[in-house]
Amino acid sequence: MSQATNQSWGGRFSEPTDAFVARFTASVNFDQRLARQDIQGSIAHATMLAGVGVLTDDERDAIINGLNEIQGEIERGEFNWSVPLEDVHMNIEARLTDKIGITGKKLHTGRSRNDQVATDIRLFMRDEIDVIEVELKRLREGMIELADREAETIMPGFTHLQTAQPVTFGHHILAWQEMLARDHERLLDCRKRVNVMPLGAAALAGTTYPIDRHVTAELLGFDRPSENSLDAVSDRDFAIEFTSFASILLMHLSRMSEELVLWTSAQFNFIDLPDRFCTGSSIMPQKKNPDVPELVRGKTGRVYGHLMALLTLMKSQPLAYNKDNQEDKEPLFDAVDTVRDCLKAFADMVPAIEPKKASMYEAARRGFSTATDLADYLVRKGVAFRDAHEIVGQSVAYGLKTEKDLSEMSLDELKQFSDIIDQDVFEVLTLEGSVAARNHIGGTAPNQVRAAAQRAREAMSALKTGGA
Ligand code: ARG
Repeated sequence: MSQATNQSWGGRFSEPTDAFVARFTASVNFDQRLARQDIQGSIAHATMLAGVGVLTDDERDAIINGLNEIQGEIERGEFNWSVPLEDVHMNIEARLTDKIGITGKKLHTGRSRNDQVATDIRLFMRDEIDVIEVELKRLREGMIELADREAETIMPGFTHLQTAQPVTFGHHILAWQEMLARDHERLLDCRKRVNVMPLGAAALAGTTYPIDRHVTAELLGFDRPSENSLDAVSDRDFAIEFTSFASILLMHLSRMSEELVLWTSAQFNFIDLPDRFCTGSSIMPQKKNPDVPELVRGKTGRVYGHLMALLTLMKSQPLAYNKDNQEDKEPLFDAVDTVRDCLKAFADMVPAIEPKKASMYEAARRGFSTATDLADYLVRKGVAFRDAHEIVGQSVAYGLKTEKDLSEMSLDELKQFSDIIDQDVFEVLTLEGSVAARNHIGGTAPNQVRAAAQRAREAMSALKTGGA
């Protein structure tokens, strides 16, 4: 058999693999990232095989010791990855046989690379989901604390990016937090479907050896073995689910990023971001740019791309395993890395946001943000809402002409538009009165924001998280 033909399947081949084809079909340059999970899966498989009498205990021990040594070689950077050996699975198996001889060749009894790779990716995803979840929780906690601190800080609320009504800064931050609470649930939901074990499906139909899949699943911390071997080796819907979660999360982070970028501008001047999250310009000495939120906003695109790549990769694939599926790894790895890094950046940055309260307050005072409050005041005094709307519209037109906000007008000025208006109107025209009046669950009143922050803390600690 030619050297260039892979030793583990070269038996039926009569000519060596074309050198380019070998490189083209190899995945070892990227799937070596699955080495730890591959070894973990192999150790569980060998343990189970010995348990059912397919391997002797000595064979099992030789395999496990060899694999542990290989793990050490990989960690120390001493492992020699070989492209002709195609992928992480065959590289590790070949090294095992180098080390322990013929027993190494028994490890693959009762399994195939098809169930092996599907198992490795699921183990990898589970590990990464747990790391991502830690960052996501840290970010949510940071937001909840910031919101609690800023429950009374007043800023303009916007619709169409035009000043609409005053809100509290804490309320705005809790709106972000709600988005992340749903993302958190989506992540944990995805984890449930990731944590199912394909091992034992073998190539596609199962195996003739008396394997015990419950034992292997238990050893690897899977919730259960998969129900159908054909499905188990072929579908990557769990990877699509993860990248859907990732896309929605990044969409949310991009919205927050956009607001942070706007708020740090001189035109808004709502917040300061500490220098450590910003960079300068090589030409304009005065510049301090909000690079971190800008970059998170930009990274959203690549994650959407990975979702599209995986959906398209899976589309129309006939059962069972197809080599197409080797293409699942790079998008998935990059989605995992991007999500983890963006969450870390945000979790570090959010608690450091410094609201410029006076500037936010001033912005809310301008722009007639209490116009709705004046209308509601008239309604409480018996005016129909549509008529109240008209009366307030006329007062705003007058304010635009005289450059006065509603709260800056005298009682006589306001009475021009309706003589129902009285001295008590000034209570509702203040920003503090306006936010305090929205005093119901989900409203912007400071005491509602504090209560909502407390509920968010409780809801988060009640979540069944990673592995629990
Ligand atoms: N490197 C392959 C992958 O990532 C492993 C499975 C290969 N199976 C096969 N029948 N060629 O999908």
